[in-house]
Amino acid sequence: MREKIVAGNWKMNTNWPEAKELVSGILSQENRISCSLIIFPPYTYLQKISDLLSNSKVKVGAQNCSEHEKGAFTGEVSSSMLKSIGMSHCLIGHSERREYFNESDEQLLLKIKNCLNNNITPIFCCGEKLAERENNSHFEVIKNQVSKVLFQLNEDDFKKIIIAYEPVWAIGTGKTATAEQAQEIHHYIRTLIKEKYSEDISNQISILYGGSCKPSNAKELFAQADIDGGLIGGASLIANDFIQIAESF
Ligand code: 13P
Repeated sequence: MREKIVAGNWKMNTNWPEAKELVSGILSQENRISCSLIIFPPYTYLQKISDLLSNSKVKVGAQNCSEHEKGAFTGEVSSSMLKSIGMSHCLIGHSERREYFNESDEQLLLKIKNCLNNNITPIFCCGEKLAERENNSHFEVIKNQVSKVLFQLNEDDFKKIIIAYEPVWAIGTGKTATAEQAQEIHHYIRTLIKEKYSEDISNQISILYGGSCKPSNAKELFAQADIDGGLIGGASLIANDFIQIAESF
C-alpha cells in the first residue's frame, strides 16, 4: 500500500497570527484524518509551528532549501538547518522556483541529495506549461524533468522520494486537470519508474497531484489508480478546505 498524503504548500502567504489560526484549525480536526498530512509554511514560522504540532501527527516541511551544505550564501537555508528544527519534508523544484528563480536540474539534484543526507524526504515537483501541453510535448517534458534529476539517484535513494505532478497551467488558475488527464500522467511517471528501476519500486512511490485541487474535485482525483493524494496551494490556506480534501480518499 502506498502512503496517501495531503500536503499544503502555503507559498508566501499568511502573517504569524494567520498562520497560528490556520494551524489551530487543522489541529482541531486532524483526528478525523487517516492519510498523512504535511504542511509547508514559510521559513519564518517553521520552528514555532513545529512546536505547536509536537503532539500532532501533522508533519511540517520547508518549501525550499539551498543546494549548498553551509557557508557564505547570504539568505539561504540549508537542509541540515531544517533537519535540526525537526523538518521531515522539503519541496524541491516547484514550478515557481524553476520559473522565477531559474532553478536548474543540476541544482535540484544537489538539493535532493542534501535533503537525503539529512534524512529529509524530498517532494519533487514536475509539470508542463500550457504551451507544452498544447503542442503535445507534455510527456516529453515530464520525462526530461524526471530523468535529469530523479533518475540520477541510485535505487535506495530513489525509493525515499515523493513525486508531485503539478501542471503549471493548473496552478492557481482554478483550471484543474481532469481526473483522466492527471491519471494519464501519473501512470506515465509510474511507467518511467518501472522502466528505470523496477515494477516493485514503481508501485511504492507516492505520486501527488497539484494544481487547483479543492474539496469539490479532490474525490474524483484521488479515486484514480495512480494518484496518491495532493499537493494543495490556495485551498490549504483554509483549514476546513484542507481537511475536507484530506477526507476525500
Ligand atoms: P493551487 O492549489 O493554488 O493551484 O497551487 C498548487 C501548487 O502549486 C501546490 O504546490
